[in-house]
Amino acid sequence: MEPVIEYLEQNQPRFLGELAEFLRIPSISASPEHRAEVARCAHWLADELRRVGLEHVQVLATPGHPVVYADWLHAPGRPTALVYGHYDVQPVDPLHEWQSPPFEPVIHAGSIFARGASDDKGQVFMHLKAVEAHLRTQGRLPLNLKVLLEGEEEIGSGHLDALLEAQRDLLAADVVVVSDTAMFAPALPSICYGLRGLAYCQVEVRGPATDLHSGSYGGAVANPLEVLAKLVAALKDDQARITVPGFYDDVRPLSPEERAALARLPFDEPRFKAEVGVEALQGEAGYTTLERIWTRPTLELNGMWGGFTGEGSKTIIPARAWAKLSCRLVPDQDPERVLDLLERHLRALCPRTVQLTFTRMHGGKPSLTPLDHPAVQAAFRALERGFGTRPVFIRAGGSIPVVASFQQLLGLPVVLMGVAPHDDHAHAPNERFGIENLMGGARSAAYLWQELASAE
Ligand code: BES
Ligand code: MN
Ligand code: MN
Repeated sequence: MEPVIEYLEQNQPRFLGELAEFLRIPSISASPEHRAEVARCAHWLADELRRVGLEHVQVLATPGHPVVYADWLHAPGRPTALVYGHYDVQPVDPLHEWQSPPFEPVIHAGSIFARGASDDKGQVFMHLKAVEAHLRTQGRLPLNLKVLLEGEEEIGSGHLDALLEAQRDLLAADVVVVSDTAMFAPALPSICYGLRGLAYCQVEVRGPATDLHSGSYGGAVANPLEVLAKLVAALKDDQARITVPGFYDDVRPLSPEERAALARLPFDEPRFKAEVGVEALQGEAGYTTLERIWTRPTLELNGMWGGFTGEGSKTIIPARAWAKLSCRLVPDQDPERVLDLLERHLRALCPRTVQLTFTRMHGGKPSLTPLDHPAVQAAFRALERGFGTRPVFIRAGGSIPVVASFQQLLGLPVVLMGVAPHDDHAHAPNERFGIENLMGGARSAAYLWQELASAE
């Protein structure tokens, strides 16, 4: 392995230049104006996959953004690993809070700053460099490898399940490896064994046919914005419990063993509060902060609008009001069922004075990976060698919908070995990725192929 690791060290300056090229492409999947840039990013990646020595490179069209595939299959008798990642990025607003433009990467204080630096381009890139290091120095990989990179993760991976099912043979593997989760603390390698799912919806409440003069009509006609505010407020009680009947029915209880393991993690609550910028935390009674974020479901109001929000004052009863609501889900909750329950409850609460429209948006299932799987143990050894520190086992509050699809549609175990700490500002201004993490991640990925080849 020495030459592989040495190759990574020696080529670091070139890697940073290449990663900057990748980061310069504004592949914002949510923004229709960026459609051509997302496609350009897919083709840049396809070229990069060829440059690192992978074969059968394909840009697979979907009804949305393309998926990029490549493989190296010259290790007969050895297992096959599938690396999944995403090349799409989040929108960049608020733009004025960026210290340097989001798509003009700069290196500063040991990190590379750009949208997508850690989520997930930097982490995809480190896997590609680990492959390159093996192929250039050994002429081969220790196992068979497939790479699948999508362009719609940040908008819910809506077309990926169909692709997994249509391309079962192409994607056949023994294990999936994903680096798109957080490290528990800086320089503390972490294996994530659980992700939350997501159920997203938009609610519209309509009252009068048009906005009304609040003097001529106020007091006699229901105000849709107020009705909606009340409906939303009624979805949780004072103890932060969600009041939707049946909401918790499918929530798997935490085992005492898992609770004890989570309690042993070096969680620094004062520091967490300081990072977030709040005086006090809140949440469901009887659960610790980590348990609330990782193992309990939530319901959040993401945004609410309607009526007059301009400068000055205007006296109206607004005709319509809107809210965007989302739930993070835990095993064994199902996004469709949760949206059914939420819709039924909102309709039951909604007065006859207004009309309610419930629109389903994207969702994703929660997932768990068993810790005793040999691939998880191989990743543990690889991360320990790559970072020189014993990894911890964590869960995450975030969602990667395709992970449950790999498990349930393709029957594959998924190992989550993300190397980007929380303070890398994913989804926020000044996103960054530490060069030490990039290199530690590349070393770990390089070790992983060896560990996986000897584990099975
Ligand atoms: N990489 C994140 C998921 C993540 C975040 C995992 C934090 C672990 C910790 C991913 O790119 C993401 O942002 N997912 C979205 C999914 C959604 C749009 C379906 C999320 O969690 O909001
Ligand atoms: Mn991501
Ligand atoms: Mn993301």
